[in-house]
Amino acid sequence: YLYGSSRLNSLGVNLADPAEREPLLAKMALAAQRRWVGGAIVNGDLHEARGREVRNPSNLDQIIGVVSEADETLVEKALAAAVPAQVTWDATPASERAEILECAADLYEERMAELIAYCVREGGRTIPDSISEVREAVDFLRYYADRARNEFGGGVRMPGPTGESNELKLRGRGVFCCISPWNFPLAIFTGQIAAALAAGNSVLAKPAEQTPLIATRAVQMLLEAGVPPDVLHLLPGDGATVGARIVADPRVAGVAFTGSTETAKSIHRSLANREGAIPVLIAETGGQNAMIVDSSALPEQVVLDVVQSSYNSAGQRCSALRALYVQDEIADRVAELLAGYMEELSIGDPMLLTTDVGPVIDKPSRDMLRAHAEKIGRKARWSHACKLRPEHERGTFFAPMAVEIESLSLLAGEVFGPIVHLIRYGAHQIDKVIDAVNATGFGLTLGVHTRVDATARYIASRVRAGNVYVNRNMIGAVVGVQPFGGRGLSGTGPKAGGPYYLHRFATEQTVTVNT
Ligand code: SER
Repeated sequence: YLYGSSRLNSLGVNLADPAEREPLLAKMALAAQRRWVGGAIVNGDLHEARGREVRNPSNLDQIIGVVSEADETLVEKALAAAVPAQVTWDATPASERAEILECAADLYEERMAELIAYCVREGGRTIPDSISEVREAVDFLRYYADRARNEFGGGVRMPGPTGESNELKLRGRGVFCCISPWNFPLAIFTGQIAAALAAGNSVLAKPAEQTPLIATRAVQMLLEAGVPPDVLHLLPGDGATVGARIVADPRVAGVAFTGSTETAKSIHRSLANREGAIPVLIAETGGQNAMIVDSSALPEQVVLDVVQSSYNSAGQRCSALRALYVQDEIADRVAELLAGYMEELSIGDPMLLTTDVGPVIDKPSRDMLRAHAEKIGRKARWSHACKLRPEHERGTFFAPMAVEIESLSLLAGEVFGPIVHLIRYGAHQIDKVIDAVNATGFGLTLGVHTRVDATARYIASRVRAGNVYVNRNMIGAVVGVQPFGGRGLSGTGPKAGGPYYLHRFATEQTVTVNT
């Protein structure tokens, strides 16, 4: 059973073909020469009064732009406009809302090179990662437009006695606050906004402190595509001040948040303590994701998938692999191949196509990883780390690392970066492994490598994970193909890029008419 339409996801760029690659790199270089401007956008006006410098995480000496953050006046102005604007937007036919989002998708694709330059220089993402990021953003726009057209267009007729008609409709909830993370500064930022808009809400978007410039550019494109300026407002700033201020306002009907479990809980508390109506929270948080590899697995394939799952995006994906369980018989072989592969990784400036692993986002992230590496290193049975060169000191680089530990319980929580923890298990210990993974309380992604179908089915049915990947890597969920999101400490659901996502942004209305 194939859900939804058969339309294609956004096409990529064939980097092996010079005819595609060279124009892309040239346009990126051109975009990178500009000093970018970010700031609050309220009622369509960009406010650039007080600028804070934004630096390139690959080279902190490089200032790539300035951002002016939102203050109380701008938050208030945005809210005052967004409340009445939502009523008109919700009454606009869903097909018109969908067309605007599709127009934004076309603009993103047309300006892919520019958006990639932002992802690389502000987010520290590699070029292939950035291409995937733009494609994912485009997919979110088109997928939610498609869902809105199908489900918000007309109501569902319900049965009733003669002389009575009953119709069930989906409507927007009101003003949504969308709080997005720096690790997918375009895709998740756009996905939350697209879903809220498609469902008939107005939006106050609060991007991550680290990536306000790409957010500004994205909102400019959404407005250019036709989103009414009173319906979508951008409010960059600190989570503890700007984010908390918006969340606490009783005029906000719902919050879509992607980030840490701790922040999701604090938003939940703030919403619970508010006066007035009961708001909705959609939270996508972290994971302590495991891959379970039994002795029938092919070590060469396992290592390829481990490297992609752990070190792609410098391990800064909530889907990334953190705990690699390998059955005793092949554990030495996997460790040896993994160490060999790590030697081949190129760490450096993500503007270079040859780079496999770029910097981590900022100094606090790098310092947290250094502290963890040092602490866990003392308890390690074996470890291997890539080598950094002196020039890496200019940016916030952290050398990818693999470390063998006794037990998953040695980790205090999610370690957000390029560190994979290898844990051996014996032939009859699979239930112990499953219990340990479930005991983390997280439930986002799970990888399984085995050539025994029954083992894959057994593990998948017992580990509480939102996305299970068998005999492949465990990152890069595709919109409309692998709906993405977890459970427990990993989030509330519904899954992004899935058929049920828009429903949580909506409220239902039953209209009964005595005919
Ligand atoms: N959706 C991303 C992935 O699947 C994580 O946020 O890697």
